[in-house]
Amino acid sequence: MTDSPPPASLELSLEVSGLAYAYPDGHQALFGVDFTVRRGERVALLGPNGAGKTTLVLHLNGILTAGAGSVTVAGLPVGKAHLAEIRRRVGIVFQDPDDQLFMPTVREDVAFGPAAAGLRGPALEARVEYALSLVGMEAFADRPPHHLSFGQRRRVAVATVLAMEPEILVLDEPSSNLDPASRRELADILRSLDITVLMVTHDLPYALELCPRSLILSEGTIAADGPTADILCDEPLMTTHRLELPFGFNPKTAPA
Ligand SMILES: Nc1ncnc2c1ncn2[C@@H]1O[C@H](COP(=O)(O)OP(=O)(O)OP(=O)(O)O)[C@@H](O)[C@H]1O
Ligand SMILES: [Mg+2]
Repeated sequence: MTDSPPPASLELSLEVSGLAYAYPDGHQALFGVDFTVRRGERVALLGPNGAGKTTLVLHLNGILTAGAGSVTVAGLPVGKAHLAEIRRRVGIVFQDPDDQLFMPTVREDVAFGPAAAGLRGPALEARVEYALSLVGMEAFADRPPHHLSFGQRRRVAVATVLAMEPEILVLDEPSSNLDPASRRELADILRSLDITVLMVTHDLPYALELCPRSLILSEGTIAADGPTADILCDEPLMTTHRLELPFGFNPKTAPA
């Protein structure tokens, strides 16, 4: 007997369909966004300033509510009905770690989400240790987050999200403000995780290094969806959407 494939809803970590959104001041940021991400994929979300990338990210765990269309995470619709479960499944690492870290110690910050989800005692401690070890920050557990460097706070922010054992990890510009060593170390961490990743980035070499597939979001719609190398090599497409490779960077010869 052969195994039948799992139903599509279980293979998809994320399904965004017809998503449109206007801010309360009337500014429309998303105009019918459609894409899916399969379980275990790492996908980069590229696009110029103001394209709607952060607005899209804020819909993935219900911080913003769709004006039209829908977001589904591993088969569960994002909406008021299952918000706690959605926020457990979708781990968002915000661009600014200071939006994520607010407890007196690193340990308490990483424990916050799992404790709110009901984890207690040794199980909670083990979860915190595990998440901190994934980002190499075990030695900082008792330090106040505001005494850490930016790169260290970014790692702790990633740990707070990993501690929830999310279905999908969403990162908004994870490499911004990191020094080259921290940027590479974060790449190593992301590559080592067996998890679905959606990564918003202006760092195109980082997208190529980490994400086999990229989406371009431009003026609130998906303008391209394909292999990252193909997208970065498509000069007319890149120019149309204000995407520029760093000086001297050649995606054709860069190691993937
Ligand atoms: N709170 C808000 N109220 C009104 N308009 C907003 C608000 N936040 C963002 N916008 C507008 O929505 C559009 C999309 O913004 P968004 O922050 O999603 O862009 P982005 O792609 O993340 O850009 P960046 O690369 O600069 O981070 C922009 O035109 C922005 O001015
Ligand atoms: Mg943004």
